[in-house]
Amino acid sequence: TDLMNIIQGIPKAELHLHIEGSFEPELMFQIAERNNITLDYESIDALKKAYKFNNLQEFLDIYYTGAQVLLKEEDFYDLTWAYLTKVHSQNVVHVEVFFDPQTHTERGVDFKVAITGIYKALEKAKEELHISYRLIMSYLRHMTEEEAFKTLEESLPFKDWIHGVGLDSSEVGNPPSKFKEVFKASAAQGYKLVAHAGEEGPADYIWEALDILNVVRIDHGNRCLSDDALVDRLLKENMALTLCPLSNLELKVIDKLEDHPVAKMLDKGILATIHSDDPAYFGGYMNENYYETAKALNLTKDQLQQLAINAFEASWLSDSHKKKHI
Ligand code: ADE
Ligand code: ZN
Repeated sequence: TDLMNIIQGIPKAELHLHIEGSFEPELMFQIAERNNITLDYESIDALKKAYKFNNLQEFLDIYYTGAQVLLKEEDFYDLTWAYLTKVHSQNVVHVEVFFDPQTHTERGVDFKVAITGIYKALEKAKEELHISYRLIMSYLRHMTEEEAFKTLEESLPFKDWIHGVGLDSSEVGNPPSKFKEVFKASAAQGYKLVAHAGEEGPADYIWEALDILNVVRIDHGNRCLSDDALVDRLLKENMALTLCPLSNLELKVIDKLEDHPVAKMLDKGILATIHSDDPAYFGGYMNENYYETAKALNLTKDQLQQLAINAFEASWLSDSHKKKHI
């Protein structure tokens, strides 16, 4: 269609993508088989049928189960390479990828195994697909701050490969303030800071991410529009929100895409951006997120271009690299 051609033609940056959430059922079965693991689902179709979620936690339970088949460096490499070739075909030219070290270290898979596989695929994509990248390790907020500190410690030998830290997993009941000290220590190591906030949690959690954690971007941030003072704050600091419309729909953060706040945010001048979050689970990569959102909200071509420009502006590319896209 014309709309899809326009979207395909826009060079895009993806800033909110969990690599474990890009694990397609086909690859999951393939890796399970070579690792001699039997999945709880009898077929790819049976697995896909389980992808119906009423909230974030129902999704996370399946997402962590899927990740259990990742054991070896080549598993992480194949996972990451599959994602990168997919988004390359969608004209994504820059990615800032999350991985969840604790999802793997908790199961006895070394930090080194996970990060090396991911890193090698990112480097290959830089060379062969000309995709620039940053890598972000996320602390799991359902775990303790002490456990996050342990992860920070484990990351230090790989500091040169890691650009920032994030905060994800079960939001409600696990406010950003729980991770105040480990974020401070992470910043002291030179890591940039982001956090999921205001996806299912209240606007207060967005304030905490800004005031207590000192993040440079908010992942999701849907709930900010309920708080005028917060909107003023986001505008004053030109703070980016990395929104994920199909994720919000699948996790019932919104009832229908027509209710998605991104158009209102653009109207207010907020640095709003669109990404896929966990594309293998939510039915779409970058282009599908742009496309479905554009259709539901009647976004103009200018608004679509603005969303893409915003993502480059919010990215961690150097100013000279940003300029090529803005
Ligand atoms: N981990 C993977 N996707 C997530 C999301 N949308 N929110 C919180 N944690 C996540
Ligand atoms: Zn996310």
